[in-house]
This record gives sequence, C-alpha cells and structure tokens, in this order.
Amino acid sequence: MKTLASLFLAVALCVPVVIFGSDVRNVVFPEPQKIEISADEGTTSEAAKNLRFCIDASCGNEGYRIEILPEEIVVSHATEAGKFYAEKTLEQLKNHYGNALPLLRIEDAPAMRWRGLHLDVSRHFFSVEEIKKFIDTMAFYKFNRLHFHLTDGPGWRIEIKKYPRLTQIGAWRVDKTDREWNWRETEIPLGGNAETRKLYGGFYTQDEIRELVRFAKERHVVIVPEIEMPGHSFAAMMAYPELACAGNNVPVDGLRGKDMVCVGKPETTQFFIDVLSEFAALFPESPIHVGGDEVWHECWLDCPDCRARMKRENLKSSVELQTVFMRDIIAFLKKQNREIIAWDEIFAGGLSDEHVATMVWREPELGYRAAERGPVILCPGEWLYFDMYQGKPESEPLAIGGFIPLEKVYEFSPFPQDLSEKARKNILGIQANLWTENMTTMAHVEYMLFPRAFALMDIAWHGAPRNYARLLEQIRLQLPNLKARNCNFRPLEK
Ligand code: ACM
Ligand code: ZN
Repeated sequence: MKTLASLFLAVALCVPVVIFGSDVRNVVFPEPQKIEISADEGTTSEAAKNLRFCIDASCGNEGYRIEILPEEIVVSHATEAGKFYAEKTLEQLKNHYGNALPLLRIEDAPAMRWRGLHLDVSRHFFSVEEIKKFIDTMAFYKFNRLHFHLTDGPGWRIEIKKYPRLTQIGAWRVDKTDREWNWRETEIPLGGNAETRKLYGGFYTQDEIRELVRFAKERHVVIVPEIEMPGHSFAAMMAYPELACAGNNVPVDGLRGKDMVCVGKPETTQFFIDVLSEFAALFPESPIHVGGDEVWHECWLDCPDCRARMKRENLKSSVELQTVFMRDIIAFLKKQNREIIAWDEIFAGGLSDEHVATMVWREPELGYRAAERGPVILCPGEWLYFDMYQGKPESEPLAIGGFIPLEKVYEFSPFPQDLSEKARKNILGIQANLWTENMTTMAHVEYMLFPRAFALMDIAWHGAPRNYARLLEQIRLQLPNLKARNCNFRPLEK
C-alpha cells in the first residue's frame, strides 16, 4: 500500500480535478474549504463501511477532516457537530459516487457560526412532520439555526399552559385560503369550536415543541423561538383583549395598524414574562428572540396608561416606551442567563445592551454599527428576504413583491473592507427570512428557498460570495439530492 504522503497531491494549483465526469470540488455542498485528490486519479475506495472516527481538537468547533484511503475512511473531529458534518459530506459523496469513492482528503470548517433560516409559521401553519423535513434538509446542507417565528398577528402557534386562549382563540382564523392574499384580511372569531367551523390554523402543543427541539438537536440545528412584542400582537390581543390599550377596539383597530400591546400596564409585562418562562423551559438551550420590529409608537399616546408611564419614567417620546418595556423583558431573560436576540428597531429608542444580539433586517450598515457594541446577525431585506420574487411576477407564484433572484443573493457580502476587528468578530452570521403570507404549502416554501439557500450557504460557509459560475455548477449537482429528498425547488433554467 502506498504511503499517505504519496497518495495525496495537493491540488492547490487551481486546476479543476475532474473525476468520473464532474469536478470533485463541486460535488459536496457547501464546498469544503480544502480538498486534496489522490494522485492516482480514477482510483477508488470501497471502504465506505470501514469508517474510523478520531478525536482531534485541532478540527475546531464545527470542523472535520476526512481521509478516504483504499482500505478505510478516517474522520477526525473535535465535536459532535464536526462529526455530524463529516457524515453529511460522506453522505453527499456516496449519493454522487455510490460505493466507489474517490481517494481524497478533505479539511473543512465553516467561516460563520450562525447559518440560519427563518420560518414564519404564523401567517401559514406547517405540521410537525413538515417542520421536521425542513430541519432535516437544513442539516443536510449544514444550516444550524432555525429561527422559528411562532407568534404574529395572523396566528399564535405555540401552546402556553398559563394562557390557553392564546391557542384556543389566537391560533384560528376564518379560512380565506380560496382568496388572493390581498383579500385575506385576518379575521379571528371569538369563541366557537375550531373543529366544527371552517377555520384555518393550528398550533404546536408543548409535547410537539419538545419533540421538534429534540429532533433538531440530533441534527445540530438550534431552534431559536421568537415571540413578537410589543407589535404584531393582534392574535394575542384577540385572545386576551386586556393586553390592548384602553380604547383600542381590537377586532377593528388591531387590523388597522394598532396591533401593539399596551406597554403602560405592568400586567402586560407580566404576561410576556409568564409566556417567556414557558418558552425558556421548552427551549432550554436556545437564544430567545423577543421581536421588537415595526412598532407604531405614536398610538400609545392615545392611551392613559401609556401616557402615565411616560410621565412616571420621565420619557421624552413614545419610542422610549418601547425601550423601557423591552428593558424589563431583557432584564428578566438575563436573570435566567438566556441569550437574547431582537430585531434592529429596538435599539432606536436609546436601548444599548451588549448582551442582546441585533438581528438586522434593514440596512446592513445598522448591523455594522451595532457590531461595535455586541453580537449581530445579518438578514438584510435587500438580499436575504426569500419571500420576494425570484423571476418575473407573470411567471412566478404570487410573492410579496421585490426581486431577489439567485444572482442578487450571491451579491451579498457580509464583511465590508473597512469593518473593525471587533465588529468583524461580533458578526455571528447570516440568515434568510421566509415570511409566509403567500406560501400556503411546504412545497411553496421550498420553491422560495431553493436554489437561493445555496447562495446563502456558500456565503455563510466561506464568509463571502465567490464564483457564481461555480455556484451554478454546484447547484446543478445538488438537484438530484433535492429530488431524492422530495424537496421542491425553482428550476435553474426557468
Ligand atoms: C421584519 O421584516 N419586519 C422583521
Ligand atoms: Zn397603553
């Protein structure tokens, strides 16, 4: 048998190494950081069953090494995540080459810690089985964060024992799925039995949530639950009208922009603390996302309780009402030693807390400034909102608007040249957001996700966009994998 040293020839010469028809560097997605191919091109290993795992601290947190030798395959890793990613790489190699694997050596590790996908299950609801499939596909491509948008105006999707009406009422709305999205104004009926009326909706029981968390953990995906506050709270206020400001006729005003809870009443803060306590127990290892986006602060000026709080706390503007409300929520979670995330707006009113990660959905510059203070996740709407059109609206399913084709996603460069070292370290990663106003089925979600998720992952794994032509070739080689997983996608040639 040849020695390892002579078997492998570093192919750092940038010549594509074509084995059995396709460049081996294009077969595994995301493309590993380094692949060295055996000098004996065409030699294969039938040793797929002869797998040996070794611990090697030098592989780092999510990294791994694979050596495919004639008689065995050696996988080195420092963590269980690294081992899992090595297994996914081998799975992809086997899917492509069968049992006759090319002799090679891979060294791999991601550039970014947060490789996320967001899924809105409020606007449309997806079953536990569908979410499991989504997570499994994420894991196959080494995504590691599922931002689970569980509460919003059109539906509350998680059982909270202390407040049963959140799901008895807030999880159901009059079924208007036969109409175009624009005509589907949310109508949550009070009372009645969801089973016997034609209502749209659903929610996850606490047992189902625990099962999803377990399933995701096995695949090294952290589910990051979000509870929206103080805005996007129509469903919660329909269930518990006392959360609303005095004078807010929730069924009518709540749909006309007044969907903020009353932040003047201490009972509102207590409500969210109670809900968060159940969240914290259900997601014991997750950061918790506390929402905070798209708040119409001025509407609080009509409320005596909110005005009284402004006076009591000497606040100069209604924006600061959000600041003090979030401050109390954050203080509660900090006491529980929880990691916290919020949308970028919550910092507008002077809140400054290096403990809270900023999730930036507006301009990335907001993120670069925030990264001077603390952790940041970038999901800017201009590049990473996968609810936008991928092609000409006439030939696409209805989308929210905009135009973000694959090429556009691949233009997003998370690290500008002039970023300080501190800010660079604080940028945890990137994610794409799937708001599901128009996505009524998981097949549609998948269509919006792929192939754009490949561009996102390539940037997350390597830290920057690279070669678009190569990406296209790599995507082409992934389509059989998507088909085999029964996962929908938008065809490349469309
Ligand atoms: C958002 O898109 N409102 C976070
Ligand atoms: Zn109020």
